[in-house]
Formats: sequence, structure tokens, C-alpha cells
Amino acid sequence: MYILGIETSCDETSAAVLQAEGDSLLIRSNIVASQIETHRLYGGVVPEIASRAHIEAITNVTAEALDTAGVALSDLGAVAVTAHPGLIGALLVGVNFAKSLAYANGLPLVAVNHIKAHVAAGYLTETPLKPPFLALVVSGGHTSLFDVTDYTDFREIGATRDDAAGEAFDKIGRVIGLPYPGGAALDRLAYEGQVGAVKLPSPALGADTLDFSFSGLKTAALNFVNSTRQQGVEVPRADLASSFTASVVEGIARKSEQALLQTGHKTLVLAGGVAANSHLRRRLADLCRLHGVTLVVPPVSLCGDNGAMVAAAGYFEYRKGRFADVSLNASAVDQY
Ligand code: KG4
Ligand code: ZN
Repeated sequence: MYILGIETSCDETSAAVLQAEGDSLLIRSNIVASQIETHRLYGGVVPEIASRAHIEAITNVTAEALDTAGVALSDLGAVAVTAHPGLIGALLVGVNFAKSLAYANGLPLVAVNHIKAHVAAGYLTETPLKPPFLALVVSGGHTSLFDVTDYTDFREIGATRDDAAGEAFDKIGRVIGLPYPGGAALDRLAYEGQVGAVKLPSPALGADTLDFSFSGLKTAALNFVNSTRQQGVEVPRADLASSFTASVVEGIARKSEQALLQTGHKTLVLAGGVAANSHLRRRLADLCRLHGVTLVVPPVSLCGDNGAMVAAAGYFEYRKGRFADVSLNASAVDQY
């Protein structure tokens, strides 16, 4: 069957067509219209502007996804859409568009959780993947570890108690003058500095929990920037990037290792926008090698928000017979 996936939870308008037979999934198209250039002017995502940009883009992006796939609306078996969590105004654009499309064409509608969709990107890689496994989702809004027992059933076993890793990367990037979003630019800059040159706390909480806290790390890095500037000294941006990245990466690796040992899983799926971070990818590859664990990491193009991951997650909900109807609403918070 062909399934259309629609994603508008933050600052990318995306639509994709996935061909699914049994457990095998093939991306026929995956169109992503990014609003990053627009939001860069403001140093972060402006929700109202994001909603308007989604409205302007969604029809063309969907038409292009169908065209590129060579699939007509009448060939589709279902429409899947991100319904939660995310920016409420942005989500509502995708949800209402998908509802109209499904209703007008007599197609089943499937509501998708954005976090589950990031994990479902793992099914779109070259490495064969089947539950159960451990999933680590690191994005602009989330940093969580999930015990994935089934294609649709997740149990959160660890999470950040405050800021997400991506949010922290973006904040530090902004204060040292890197273009929004700071994550990708910090990733590159971190190769030029010295790890440990700036002393920073770990985001990993104590040994009795799998939770994280990024606010202390973020505040320590901001205090370092402010006090350096107050002394009239230039901020050593590369050293800060290296030290900050190492702190984030080590903290995440420590909790991932603890979660692997605790659950006994032999597969780790890394997902979310921050999964594009080259230091994190390398560190987790070493960790998995050490423990004889298979690491599944989507290509960078599938780490950020995209419709293909939504279609993949939607397909598994579809197989379970979990359908939405025209009463579907969006929600800013998780509805697992
Ligand atoms: O998953 P995503 O596209 O959107 C959310 O669902 O939040 O994640 C976006 C986040 C941003 O914070 C961005 O800075 C971060 O992913 N990011 C990175 C890298 N590329 C994107 N963070 C660290 N290193 C990167 N290479
Ligand atoms: Zn996302």
C-alpha cells in the first residue's frame, strides 16, 4: 500500500509517500520545505510565522510528494499526520489539511505522535530493524530514552527534567553568535577547540535514574560567556563548543549505556534532529561496539523533521487498526 505522511509540528512543512508491504518500507518521495531561513532573522522559531508558512506551503509540498512518487490520490491507502506534540498552531495546519484530504477522498486517517515518528525513521535505514529495542530521541524539544516493546508501544524510561539537548545547543549557539539553529554550527566548531578547556557539569543525573537535566549545563555555559565578556576577554568559542559538546555527548552516552544494561536490549536506535550530531554518532557507535549492540542511526536527511518518518509510524498504527476520524484535534503535549 501507499501511505502519505504529513508533518507540520515545528518549522518544516513536509509530505512523503511511503510504499509498505509487510515489514518492508520504501520511501517513494520525501519533500521537506524548511522555514529555517525565515526564523533565522529572529534567532528562533516564531510560532505564528511558522503556522502561516505551513499554510502557504502545505498544498504544494503534498502535490510535489505525490508527483515525485508517481502516485495519485486514488492510489493511496491512508493519510498519516503528526497530531502531537509540537507547536499547536503549526500542528493544526497539518491536522486540518490531512483531515480534509482523507475525508474528501474516502481514505483512512491515522494520527501520529511526533516522537514515535522520529523513532520510526529507524525502520527506513539499511539496517533491518524490529522491536524490541532501546530508542534514544534527542531533538529540539525532547531528550528521552524509550523501551520500545512493539512497533507502536513505547515506555519512556528516562527523560530530561527541563531543557532538551537541541534547545541547549541552540541557546549556546545563539549567545556566541552562530546562526540559528546552533546545533549544526556547534557540531563543526567543536572540532576546532579543546575538550575540557571550559569546565562544565554533566547533564546526566545520578545513578538511580535514567533522567537528564540540561538547564545546569546551559546556565554554566552562559555564565562562562558572560563572565568572560565582563573581563573584556574574547570568548574562546571553539573551546566552549568542544567542551559543551563533550559534556552533552558524554552525559547522553552514560545514560544510554545504563539503559542498555538495565533493559538488556541489543539494539539502540538513535533518532531526532540532534542525532545528526557527528560527535554523538561516533561516541554511541563506540559504546555499542563495546557492548556488542547494533546501533541504528537514520541518515542525516531523516534525522530532522520529515514526512517519511510520519508515514512509517502511521503505517504501524494503521496495521493495528488505530484510525482517527474528522474529530481529530492537535495537541501541543504528548498523547502516547
Ligand atoms: O527533531 P528536530 O528537527 O525538531 C524537533 O522535533 O525538535 O530537531 C531540531 C534540533 C535543533 O535544536 C537543532 O539545533 C538540532 O536538532 N540539530 C543538531 C544538529 N543538527 C540539528 N544538534 C547538534 N548537532 C547537529 N549536527
Ligand atoms: Zn522533531
